[in-house]
Amino acid sequence: MKLLSAFCLLSFCLITSACSSADEVKRGPHSQARHQGFTAMMPNYTKMVQMTNGNDGYQKAEFAKLVAQFEAEAQQPFTHFEQDEPGMDGKAKAEIWQNSEAFAQQQAAFFASIAALKTAAAHSNQDEIRSAIKQVDKQCMSCHSTYRD
Ligand code: HEC
Repeated sequence: MKLLSAFCLLSFCLITSACSSADEVKRGPHSQARHQGFTAMMPNYTKMVQMTNGNDGYQKAEFAKLVAQFEAEAQQPFTHFEQDEPGMDGKAKAEIWQNSEAFAQQQAAFFASIAALKTAAAHSNQDEIRSAIKQVDKQCMSCHSTYRD
């Protein structure tokens, strides 16, 4: 029974995202879809970072594949930046919709940093790759600091 209820709770979380965060973030369907998209791109992102940190063996072909997968996955959450009902936007700040042009620029800078990472991966130059991945990371943080609660 215990196992069963844990399983039910887990499916409930997956379906509703109602317990995706300890601080009870309220999400409508758009926020839920973005949240899932951002969460889904994390495993490949982490693998790329580990590979370039020297914690995991770097291999040119494997790394290039990860970058390509990550590039595709990273598009996904940005197809769900629409407002939900008031108070249901998750951690997305109102600035996103108040100045959508600035937000679009922030997004473009993020995808430009991924394109540069792709080029670096093709060159297979460790220094270039490391600095490119730092730039991607900077873009994550820059957007979060402005647009995420
Ligand atoms: C252009 C803006 C932007 C960029 C770039 C961006 N994020 Fe986010 N991210 C957001 C916003 C806004 C949310 C909150 C979405 C919501 O709750 O509806 C978010 C949510 C997340 C979440 C879900 C968990 C949480 O704390 O809300 C993760 C994980 C995440 N981002 C990781 C990343 C990583 C890693 C990168 C870079 C590789 C990145 N993001 C790049 C805007 C961005």
